[in-house]
Amino acid sequence: MVPSLLLCSLLVLSTASSVADAKANLTKVTWAHAVNDAEFLTRVLASDIQFIEADISLGYLKDDVNKEREIPIMAHPPATESDISLETFLQRILQFNREANDPSKVKGVKLDFKSIGAFERSIDIIRASYDMTAFDTWINADILPGPVDNTATVPVDPTRFFTAARRLGKATLSIGWTTRWGPDFSEGLYTESQVDAMIDAIRANGIDKVGNAITFPVRGGIVANSVTNMIRLFCALKDTNNVTFTIWSSADDAVNVEKLREFIFTTGLDRTYVDVPDDLHKKLHLDENAFINTCKKTLQARCFD
Ligand SMILES: *[C@@H]1O[C@H](CO)[C@@H](O)[C@H](O)[C@H]1NC(C)=O
Ligand SMILES: *[C@@H]1O[C@H](CO)[C@@H](O)[C@H](O)[C@H]1NC(C)=O
Repeated sequence: MVPSLLLCSLLVLSTASSVADAKANLTKVTWAHAVNDAEFLTRVLASDIQFIEADISLGYLKDDVNKEREIPIMAHPPATESDISLETFLQRILQFNREANDPSKVKGVKLDFKSIGAFERSIDIIRASYDMTAFDTWINADILPGPVDNTATVPVDPTRFFTAARRLGKATLSIGWTTRWGPDFSEGLYTESQVDAMIDAIRANGIDKVGNAITFPVRGGIVANSVTNMIRLFCALKDTNNVTFTIWSSADDAVNVEKLREFIFTTGLDRTYVDVPDDLHKKLHLDENAFINTCKKTLQARCFD
């Protein structure tokens, strides 16, 4: 009993000093989704939203009436038409960010690629039309099959994805698993073998050596059941890549709120983006530390368990 009490107070001390470091609270970051048309982009640029998420597919501009030129456009499948190309989308955000007189006004961009073809065709466009070294740029794709028995969505081929991504230098890689979940789901998790497949894909493609920042997009209802396996994922990569998690959720997903809070406070507010509907965000009560009266170990410490 005495030794464990002692250990506990040591941990409390180290938690107190890390709070003094005033790390970023990533759960505060605000998001706009599916910013796939020109007018919506105009509104988002004029707003306080900090991160712009948008989908890229191969398709046609609306004024290309004869469908003669297939290019990367801003569209979510099954749409194959848009009024804005990836090139124009990026040029507009770049111009906005360069003209922003206040660094807090600058927008981050998360580009969600819906197929490997769309991604490969976008590399030269991103390099020519954006400044990834000056402004946060995330490249998102589901590269592996995930929970729960998801066979309906085909993941983006991981080897081709990483080969193309390497041409983008140090962009943040947002890489996830396809998911099947909804209002009636409660069982299901990111399994140990799915997590190992992710670690293997990252290492097999040398991303541990290049050292890109990685954020894992994880679905709230599922990751709430997967804390142990997420710690395993973090611990395997923490020395080579700056690892964060991005929690997302569909509007009617079943979510065990208490378990999701525990996941967030286990990984830490400085490692967890929370991109979920407002009502779920409120229910998470991120202003009250889930572990305030416990001597829960920090994520780093749990890597040595
Ligand atoms: C890791 O990423 C987080 C979130 O993007 C950032 O706040 C932090 O400064 C990064 N750390 C390093 C060592 O680059
Ligand atoms: C972190 O941000 C959340 C909002 O997402 C807020 O409720 C909470 O009080 C903040 N916590 C700290 C320690 O800054």
